[in-house]
Amino acid sequence: MGEESLARVAVLLSGRGSNFLSLHAAMERGEIPARIVVVVSNNSKAAGLTKAAELGIPAIAIPRRRSSRLQHDERVIEVLRQQRVEWVCLAGYMRLLSPAFVAAFPRRILNIHPSLLPSFPGLEAQGQALSHGVRLSGCTVHLVDEGLDSGPVVIQKAVPVEDEDTEDSLAARILIEEHRAYPEALSRLLTMDWDIEGRRIRWQPATRGPASG
Ligand code: GRF
Repeated sequence: MGEESLARVAVLLSGRGSNFLSLHAAMERGEIPARIVVVVSNNSKAAGLTKAAELGIPAIAIPRRRSSRLQHDERVIEVLRQQRVEWVCLAGYMRLLSPAFVAAFPRRILNIHPSLLPSFPGLEAQGQALSHGVRLSGCTVHLVDEGLDSGPVVIQKAVPVEDEDTEDSLAARILIEEHRAYPEALSRLLTMDWDIEGRRIRWQPATRGPASG
């Protein structure tokens, strides 16, 4: 597929960047008709930024410092506009987006969360699941709205919670599924026709492509 027809994706991260790498790898394998044109972090020390730079992807740190949430988001939006970004993938980005950010990319911002939403939104989702005593947890890829981990669900994958689990062992089991779910979700959104009814994403087979007959 020519570069021009690939969707232009930005990844926003704050930490190690394993979901960024899984998206990038799936794109390199041709499984997602997209390419990552920029990686942005609020944390200049994020390992994910270093990995992006090593891959030759523009890697930009935009620390918040003393700016307001809105001012910071405006600086990020400006960078995304410069790179003609069409889709934004949050991958361990430890900031809640302002309404202005959400409005700048309507229905084009995705997040991955390490629980089966709407259970256990927010921080330490794996710890929340363990202390609640649920027997199943997993991950959710969802479209981002103005709430915390509250937008329409694109894909979920479940894993068992074992008696001997610690937060780390449960997080590791969930992470394996995250690395499958995020590429699958983005690929679906880019290759199928879909709409949102209430909170539900309604999928239709793609009608795009050359007309037959
Ligand atoms: C993942 O567990 C993701 O679900 C959560 O933050 C973590 C990011 O990990 N939102 P990584 O930086 O992608 O390795």
